[in-house]
Amino acid sequence: MTGESSATSDDGAEVEPPLPPRPDQQFCRFGAGEWHRGESTVPSQLSETGCFVSLDPLVPAADLVPFAVNSQLWTDGAHKDRWVVLPVGASITIDQARNWWYPTDTIIIKNFSYILETAAEGRMRPVETRVMIKRNRGWEFHSYRWRRGESEADLLDGGYVDKLAVVLDEGVVQLDYAYPTREQCDVCHRTQDRVFGPLRHQLDRVVDYGHVEAEQLDVWQQLGMFAGPLAEPEPHERPLVDARDESASLEDRARSYLHVNCSHCHRPGGWAPPGMHLDLRYGIALGEARLCDEPLQFLAVWSPGEFRIKAGDPESSSVWLRSQLRNAGQMPPIGTALRDPGSEVVRQWIEALGEGGCRP
Ligand code: HEC
Ligand code: HEC
Repeated sequence: MTGESSATSDDGAEVEPPLPPRPDQQFCRFGAGEWHRGESTVPSQLSETGCFVSLDPLVPAADLVPFAVNSQLWTDGAHKDRWVVLPVGASITIDQARNWWYPTDTIIIKNFSYILETAAEGRMRPVETRVMIKRNRGWEFHSYRWRRGESEADLLDGGYVDKLAVVLDEGVVQLDYAYPTREQCDVCHRTQDRVFGPLRHQLDRVVDYGHVEAEQLDVWQQLGMFAGPLAEPEPHERPLVDARDESASLEDRARSYLHVNCSHCHRPGGWAPPGMHLDLRYGIALGEARLCDEPLQFLAVWSPGEFRIKAGDPESSSVWLRSQLRNAGQMPPIGTALRDPGSEVVRQWIEALGEGGCRP
């Protein structure tokens, strides 16, 4: 962080701030609660939420603050856009342990798009819009499924599967795109106030706002998103890196990959069996992660390899082998139907561990 990102350029000229100030009015709304006097107050169509001024092209309302993360979860090559809406005048509180707590009535939106084979050439089309709303009693999860060829999306009541022909780097891919059920949202979003992206180690980066680049955390400070000034980062708040960023170390890239794709389940309080003690969070020292040269706890037909990671030997390392499966035994077990080419960094790191071995 630079501490202060100025509203003047190097030659002293006035520059538009990266984002306009937060409006004193809320446009994006989901009613009082999912079941208010026995009826859902959550709009059944995305156009009724007020979160977007237009659905085609997708134009966010003035109270949506866009954010970008350092390291993304792989969702079968989907392009994702993310926004957060804080209630007017409210801000994020950070406790002594550096946990972030979003205020009641916060809304977080994640939009999934693809270039579809049927869509006009090269044009991204939204497929799904996921929403988290913080009510008094906790977070609520919703998914809107976009109509094919129309600019409207409908609230889903359970999961759903669409057969999509999507254009990815390797060409046209036939994809069974699975809209998660609310139970599945809950499986992954269990810990840390249930929020994973808009946290310090993910937001600590430069963002291109179109007319200007700026440190994202400085921009959030200027928007009054935090209750007070941000303290210096603790070691566990070290920024994650993009797994594809070859200027970062192999270890940081692989550990960031495992953090964002695996650690929501593999951490204390996560969905994986607690007795497993496998902690794949980025900030956890290798020795404490119970990861390297650690024999597998469960030996089963769907669980290849003998070790979680065997330094220098990816083919004996379940962490690598299961990340390559897309059937019984696959990791992650939900949320993906296509193998992630970006996972290759995990194999490279395991090979490189052969030189120095597992360190504490
Ligand atoms: C396979 C695990 C998984 C499932 C299932 C899942 N999520 Fe997430 N979600 C994540 C992770 C990890 C992130 C953060 C990384 C990212 O955005 O790339 C995230 C991010 C989000 C965000 C942005 C806020 C944040 O915490 O970063 C929203 C909103 C969201 N998910 C909503 C939902 C909803 C609604 C569902 C169910 C319909 C759902 N998610 C299902 C893992 C999951
Ligand atoms: C949605 C939750 C979830 C996510 C995300 C997830 N896992 Fe798992 N993982 C589990 C569960 C549950 C088990 C125990 C059952 C089993 O072995 O299939 C498990 C078991 C494992 C094991 C076996 C450990 C042992 O000692 O037996 C490995 C290795 C593993 N996961 C690696 C990964 C990797 C690598 C990722 C990310 C690429 C990942 N997991 C993502 C839920 C998850």
